[in-house]
Amino acid sequence: MLFPDYRPRRLRKNEALRKMVRETTLSVNDFIMPLFVVEGKGIKLPIDAMPGNYQLSVDNLVKAAQKVFELGIPGVILFGIPSSKDPLGTQAYAKSGIVQRAIKALKEKLPDLIVVTDVCLCEYTDHGHCGFVEGKDVDNDATLELLAKTALSHAESGADMVAPSDMMDGRVAEIRSILDENDYSQIPIMSYAAKYCSAFYGPFREAADSAPQFGDRRTYQMDPANAREAIREATMDVEEGADIIMVKPALPYLDIICRIRDEVDLPVAAYNVSGEYSMIKAAEKMGWIDGKKVMMESLTAIKRAGADLILTYFAMEAAALLEGK
Ligand code: PBG
Repeated sequence: MLFPDYRPRRLRKNEALRKMVRETTLSVNDFIMPLFVVEGKGIKLPIDAMPGNYQLSVDNLVKAAQKVFELGIPGVILFGIPSSKDPLGTQAYAKSGIVQRAIKALKEKLPDLIVVTDVCLCEYTDHGHCGFVEGKDVDNDATLELLAKTALSHAESGADMVAPSDMMDGRVAEIRSILDENDYSQIPIMSYAAKYCSAFYGPFREAADSAPQFGDRRTYQMDPANAREAIREATMDVEEGADIIMVKPALPYLDIICRIRDEVDLPVAAYNVSGEYSMIKAAEKMGWIDGKKVMMESLTAIKRAGADLILTYFAMEAAALLEGK
């Protein structure tokens, strides 16, 4: 059908018509809100580069999560900032670690809020890498056991879902088997399957105090230039027992979300990361863009590309808009 018989503008005439033919609709059900938890009491430390986000002590974390829940957002993902770090990241899997205590407090007050945990060692190691360092690099196989222990300790504390973000090979299988052996066969794994070595994580590393103290993460996170490799990563994780496949970051990697959506039958998650958030907030502050509109357009684009779940620091702001609150 060609012009003048076909006129695409006919269906754009007014909002009612546009609504009828809209292909993608955002909902609060799509969101997971990331929260940062620190030791102490009464703490709510603003994260400079991520306006509206804070490092929270457990008491304030529960209050923030309460707001998340009241907005209708189904879940949060937790990142812990421990009081001490060491080469083996022992606080990541300590029984009374910061995340373990946060999970317990959240599940006690808000049993219906889904608590997802980030399973990684970078916030807990003094060198800031995501695993056990041997020489100048992370030793893949020696790290698997530490990650598995971390995931198990999260499950034991009451986490509803674990999300490994370390990018070690074989970690999904290792985590699945330790969970199954310990009667946690019902705990799903959301795998950061295609996680790129991205400069968009900059503000997060300030928020979580997790910047590597030497080198970078290029020997384990993916090269931003690769797309076919993302399919291999996702396929491996499906075979190892992942329940949800994540792509991260989101906006600069919409092609990856789209390709993985086509290749994989599992739910696909996308992580709209700290740098994506901060750029919009900064441009809004400068008066250069309409922050709310750019936020909604970005989140819609991530969903349109194929994401079923969106991890985003915008979750609360976007939910409030969607719910007219
Ligand atoms: C931990 C982890 C990171 C993020 C989520 N989990 C940082 C990293 O890999 O350096 C980044 C999230 C964000 O930027 O919002 N490995």
